[in-house]
Amino acid sequence: MPTVLLLLATVAALLGVAFWWIRRNNLAVYPAGRGPLVRQPLPTGCDLGERLMAASAVDAPQSAPAAGSGVAAPERAAAPAPAKPPKRKKPSGPSRRAFLRNSWLIAWLGVLASFGGASLAFLWPNLRGGFGAVIDLDSEDAVAAAIAEGGGRFEYPSGRMYIVSYDPANDPDGDYADITNGAPFMALYQRCVHLGCRVPWCASSSWFECPCHGSRYNRWGEYQFGPAPRGLDRFNLSVEEGRVTVDTSTVITGPSRQTSILGEPPSGPHCN
Ligand code: FES
Repeated sequence: MPTVLLLLATVAALLGVAFWWIRRNNLAVYPAGRGPLVRQPLPTGCDLGERLMAASAVDAPQSAPAAGSGVAAPERAAAPAPAKPPKRKKPSGPSRRAFLRNSWLIAWLGVLASFGGASLAFLWPNLRGGFGAVIDLDSEDAVAAAIAEGGGRFEYPSGRMYIVSYDPANDPDGDYADITNGAPFMALYQRCVHLGCRVPWCASSSWFECPCHGSRYNRWGEYQFGPAPRGLDRFNLSVEEGRVTVDTSTVITGPSRQTSILGEPPSGPHCN
């Protein structure tokens, strides 16, 4: 839900910026009263006729009175003032060209915003229990039961991890004490440290065996065989007030190839 809200907010913000930008540029290019829609009105047919008549009245020669008639020459008729062309009503709103340009721009910005929002939602870590967050798995008893039911491991796909049981008695030097924090479990990253394939559990050998290039790891994720450069990476796990939590925001580099503290041979044939 927060991801959807974040996506909608991003789209709304981008559209708001787009509207502001378009309005600002229109006003900057065409200041008030000088936009592309203000045109000089063309004279109509009636206007032209009136102007021609007025011009002929002004240019026509006055008939001179006969000499010695004693009649004063008539006053020259004043030319009628040319009629002002009727003002054209200025169309309100943007021109068709501006409308189409703005529509295209908004459409493209909408597409870009959707794409950006979707990418963001895909890459953003799921803060409510997915990989990249601190995950509250379950109660200690429930996790122990899930490991027993899974034949030695409990798989948690959305956290991309396996939970295996950990007995400090098998780790006398406490090599894994800092990532288990006194809990009877250990959290292993499912990603193969060779080239990144997901490493499945092999029920017959009770090892983790990578199908891509054949790397094998024992139940604690320690290197046993293949091209992998080290043991499986892992996460910090702790038990607080009976709840098992795993911090998947930080990947802890796995033990070296030479580290094999568990010393547990395969329980049966290998899968790969
Ligand atoms: S990716 Fe696992 S062995 Fe190559």
